[in-house]
Amino acid sequence: MKGVILSGGTGTRLRPITHTGPKQLVPVANKPVLEYAIEDLKEAGITEIGIILGNVGREEIQNLVGDGSKYGVDVTYIVQGNPLGLAHAAGCAREFVGDDDFVMYLGDNILNQGISELVESFKAGDYGAGISLQHVDNPQQFGIADVDVDGNVEGLVEKPDDPPSDLALIGIYVFSPAVFDAIDRLEPSWRGELEITDAIQLLLEDGYKIDSHVVEGWWKDTGKPGDILEANRLVLESQKRSLDGTVEEGAEVNGRVQLARSATIESGAVVRGPVSIADDVTIEDGSYVGPYTSIGENTRIAGPHIENTVIVGESEVTTNGRIIDSLIGRAAQVESAEGMLPEGRRMVVGENSQLHL
Ligand code: G1P
Repeated sequence: MKGVILSGGTGTRLRPITHTGPKQLVPVANKPVLEYAIEDLKEAGITEIGIILGNVGREEIQNLVGDGSKYGVDVTYIVQGNPLGLAHAAGCAREFVGDDDFVMYLGDNILNQGISELVESFKAGDYGAGISLQHVDNPQQFGIADVDVDGNVEGLVEKPDDPPSDLALIGIYVFSPAVFDAIDRLEPSWRGELEITDAIQLLLEDGYKIDSHVVEGWWKDTGKPGDILEANRLVLESQKRSLDGTVEEGAEVNGRVQLARSATIESGAVVRGPVSIADDVTIEDGSYVGPYTSIGENTRIAGPHIENTVIVGESEVTTNGRIIDSLIGRAAQVESAEGMLPEGRRMVVGENSQLHL
């Protein structure tokens, strides 16, 4: 079985962060979202992986992932170009996939229980496709499956006005190569895209059995800043304490803090986990870094009170105000204008920004 990770899309809902880089590389607990997909595929025994690239961030993705050897996988790049829908992206993998079955993984999705169960269940039967589902509160915003009591899929519909169930298709699918024939017959949907949900519905109408699997653990589509913060919280929630870096005497470090080898928490700083601190980060005297915060490489924190925030990296935060629920892009500078900030500020800050608060 092969793996296909979709890494195109324009990431409009994550602007300004995605003005300067692909959404799949936004870090969650100091690891780019895309790496979670690669690791899940590897864990399920899939080492031949095709990454479908869109028009945004091709180079950055290739620079990070390379030939895949650092993850123990073999990566092939496939260019989709313009985003014409998930089914169009999948169709671009036809040559790479050949006669194999394959897992299609949306590169901005993240889930905590891996994909092995879905893959094993697909392999154990004679299916045209396997889908993973999760109960959601807002079924109008997803692909929705109608499933009988035994889990057999009876129908699928993309973003229905009148949903037949609350079971949403989440971004991980298994396909037999029969899906390519279905993709060839698709017409664009109302949003002008070739929908993968419609391709699976066609497989069903062709008489293929569709396996389904309800995912019990958490799953996030990291399309919006709030989703990144939530995914970050969920990942940090299960991390262990490991202090590989330097904690100076007089610093206070409580709970599940991960401190990378070349990071330093200086005397007079307070860090309260769960928190992830990457290499070459310094938390200086007077700073407070609170729960559910991830601070990316080569960042200086001098004075603020930060909570529930993702700092991508290469940044300086020298304000003495409160920063909460924020997503701060690479190489941003957040400085004090004058005096203390009375209340917490929430922000989404793009790459190379300068803020004087
Ligand atoms: C896409 C799929 C949808 C699926 C969702 C999962 O939606 O079209 O069927 O439920 O991903 O995240 P989109 O993110 O393109 O709106």
